[in-house]
Amino acid sequence: MANLSSASSYSSTAKALHWTILVLLIAQFIFAWTMPHIDRNTPVTTLISLHFTFGIIILAVAVVRLAWRLTHGEPVPLDGIPPWQTLTARLVHWALYLLLFVVPILGWINASYRGMPVEMFGLELPKLLATRAPGWGWTGDVHGLLANYAMLGLVALHAVAAMYHYFVRHDGVLQRMLPGKH
Ligand code: HEM
Ligand code: HEM
Repeated sequence: MANLSSASSYSSTAKALHWTILVLLIAQFIFAWTMPHIDRNTPVTTLISLHFTFGIIILAVAVVRLAWRLTHGEPVPLDGIPPWQTLTARLVHWALYLLLFVVPILGWINASYRGMPVEMFGLELPKLLATRAPGWGWTGDVHGLLANYAMLGLVALHAVAAMYHYFVRHDGVLQRMLPGKH
């Protein structure tokens, strides 16, 4: 098994998983922002159903990605990067990993709470709790808030940091995650 701890760049598998999640998330936010507002009697329209399906796909890719990360490690930090930047980057990366699990699981719990079916290619997935199970109503609001603010905020910070390394510092941080050999 290739261990990256002494490599200077991410493996092509890690890169593919990273950019796949970005593309899926772009689609997911488009569905989230254009689907009908979900209320007590909202029918599961195509957009809502696509939001559920894409969310579960993101969760599945996140499982594979985290497993890959835990078994393969990360490349060594580039020379000359201040330790506080390496530490902040790590914190943001782990917070993003956490959100890639917490956000879709809360969405799934909320769909179950609302009695809405979550289908993958025609197959209905198990409900995580009983319809209107007392005490679980908050999951929808927290799901939306975490996605719209925590996840988008951290992704923005993360992308701005990557641009700062590319355009201001001119080091190879962004290139480590870009396709091809660097
Ligand atoms: C990473 C994956 C996901 C992201 C980024 C995401 C994002 C969002 C966002 C931003 C909203 C709020 C829409 C608005 O602004 O009004 C929302 C609502 C919702 N999502 Fe997701 N979602 C994800 C996965 C899922 C999954 C897997 C499910 C269900 C299986 C789901 C079910 C719902 C439901 C039921 C609502 C309505 C909640 C409410 O307003 O009470 N989501 N989602
Ligand atoms: C415009 C979008 C994005 C850009 C330019 C970008 C860029 C990068 C770069 C350059 C790295 C390598 C950092 C390093 O070597 O220390 C990285 C790592 C990472 N990115 Fe992104 N990224 C973007 C979007 C996202 C999104 C949407 C997520 C997830 C929600 C994400 C999650 C991560 C994580 C978790 C790592 C750490 C990988 C690991 O060590 O396992 N990124 N990103």
